[in-house]
Amino acid sequence: MTLDDELLRDEAKYCSFGDTVHYLDPPKVFARCEGSFLYDTEDRPYLDLQMWYSACNFGYANPRLNGALKRQVDTLPQLASQYVHREKVELAKRIAQRVEKTWSAKGRVHFNVGGSQAVEDALKLVRNASSGKSLMFAFEGGYHGRTLGASAITSSYRYRRRYGHFGDRAQFVPFPYCFRCPYGKKREDCGLYCVDQFARLFDTEYCGVWDPKAGAAEYAAFFVEAVQGTGGYVIPPQGYFEKLKQVLEARKILLVDDEIQMGFYRAGKFWAIENFNVQPDVIVFGKALTNGLNPIAGIWAREELISPSAFPPGSTHSTFSSNPLGTAVALEALQLMSERDYETLTREKGAYLLDQLRDLQRRYAIIGDVDGIGMALRIEICAADGYTPDKAAVDRLVDEAMKGDLEHGGKRYGLVLDVGGYYKNVITLAPSLDISYGEMDLAMNLLDQVLRRVTTPRTLQMPRAAITAKQRTRNALV
Ligand SMILES: Cc1ncc(COP(=O)(O)O)c(C=O)c1O
Repeated sequence: MTLDDELLRDEAKYCSFGDTVHYLDPPKVFARCEGSFLYDTEDRPYLDLQMWYSACNFGYANPRLNGALKRQVDTLPQLASQYVHREKVELAKRIAQRVEKTWSAKGRVHFNVGGSQAVEDALKLVRNASSGKSLMFAFEGGYHGRTLGASAITSSYRYRRRYGHFGDRAQFVPFPYCFRCPYGKKREDCGLYCVDQFARLFDTEYCGVWDPKAGAAEYAAFFVEAVQGTGGYVIPPQGYFEKLKQVLEARKILLVDDEIQMGFYRAGKFWAIENFNVQPDVIVFGKALTNGLNPIAGIWAREELISPSAFPPGSTHSTFSSNPLGTAVALEALQLMSERDYETLTREKGAYLLDQLRDLQRRYAIIGDVDGIGMALRIEICAADGYTPDKAAVDRLVDEAMKGDLEHGGKRYGLVLDVGGYYKNVITLAPSLDISYGEMDLAMNLLDQVLRRVTTPRTLQMPRAAITAKQRTRNALV
């Protein structure tokens, strides 16, 4: 029995499986990580194109961020949140100032540990601000976490089925998923029909959400992901959020922007919603703020919603909420983000990857759609008609990618791919923002090999000369 086998045997015996999902059978054991790579117990490299669901935007074991953590361990590693430490205050200040610079909006920052807990805090905040209204809108395909409150506004009933309701479940509104438009429209000439359908709810009292006499909606807030994460990196069309925000403003419904997965440049801007020209009332963040080290999540909210008189001390609390280790790393991560032009960098690298994904799409019939914004990219795997979701093919792709026997330059590799989407047929790509051009080429080569294992290319003679020349130019720049 190998050490891996022993570990998996003990896991099966002693670990709850309620807190995870193993997509592979048997699950893969990893021993170390660096940059864009995970290494298994035989030290074989796996190029990671998902980076812990976008929690490690700045590469595994980033020396600078790890250094900040180590320094904090040696100075003030622990402190109860009733006291004050520099890192917490500076972190809050930097985030608040960043928001103020972007939207000229004054506000404050409030910390918690994980994303779901921060979503819970946002729920309390908007309920409080709307005098206790407990109903929320959220999107079909949206994901906001798995605590009781967060799963009530997450679209999958699967996450609620066994546990009953502790609060009100959101009213789920179709997301503008243009490749599979829920209204059967075409992006080019739909006139954002989907927003009109949402706006229609407020036309008369008989649609069930609006009292025209009181001028009041029954709903406190709309929780959105500007780009859907778990839903399959679905990118809305330009103009959508602007039109939606007009409806919400007219009905005094708050816009809560969940940036937990797409924030911190994943979608090419500091906040993903900056791509869509609207100002949120509340922002929820987590994951990449600490690059996956000591967790910190939190919310920013407009001053009138979160000032101490509106949202009094003790409204939420967790022992570890503004822990010094997490806040120190987060502060360093923000410093790092301010020193590099991540907006340009993610736009260029994202475009480079998308170009190659489009080339793969031309060559493999099972790729129904590819799209991307910043460095959040998607490959939608479909049947021969280019549309019917093919989850089974995705499962085969992921299995092949994780075998660790792909070859390049005389070396063996694995490829870490994650699956998302309404039909679990989307490969969601979230590579390290610091991935090199050489690593991106390696990734596309490995992806090509994996695709070739599960399907036949449209033609094996398709010319590759153009993309290869382009790759060579970019490689020279690295
Ligand atoms: C958009 C979004 N919101 C909330 C969460 C929940 O965060 P956490 O897993 O840290 O509780 C996630 C996690 O994937 C997410 O992607």
